[in-house]
Amino acid sequence: MLSALRYALVLALLVSSQVFADDRTIADGVYTDAQAESGEALYEQHCLICHDKKYFRPVLKRWEGQPLGMMYLIMSSSMPESNPASLRQQEYVDILAYVLSLSRYPSGDTALDYQDGALDKITVVPRKR
Ligand code: HEC
Repeated sequence: MLSALRYALVLALLVSSQVFADDRTIADGVYTDAQAESGEALYEQHCLICHDKKYFRPVLKRWEGQPLGMMYLIMSSSMPESNPASLRQQEYVDILAYVLSLSRYPSGDTALDYQDGALDKITVVPRKR
């Protein structure tokens, strides 16, 4: 897990220069309801045993101002702690959509996509009120 984290941090330094160029944020409806639903089932199967549904609120808070891609990278390379990186990329991104829905970020028309650095162009911000 440690080496995965270190890898993620190095990558963060590499991408951080591009990150703030784009102004999409997680408050802009960046996932679909269908995706969050699929993520919920996966979450219950793979994550709930260690993380209750309130776990991610402070996590998202800590990531504010950072690209969502960073949180995704850490999650997908080090979780589940008992079997890191054992899920498919599509499954991790669906779980991430569910995590956003848990903290009541709005859904939208386009699914959250892990490809082509798309997640690096979405910044973690507080929810709009
Ligand atoms: C066997 C227990 C276990 C399972 C299963 C597990 N985790 Fe974790 N997770 C941990 C521990 C331990 C930490 C680090 C300590 C902490 O922050 O609670 C952690 C930390 C995290 C973090 C915090 C990263 C940060 O920014 O601080 C995220 C996000 C996360 N897990 C997501 C997931 C997801 C998604 C799943 C399911 C795919 C999952 N975890 C399954 C034990 C687990």
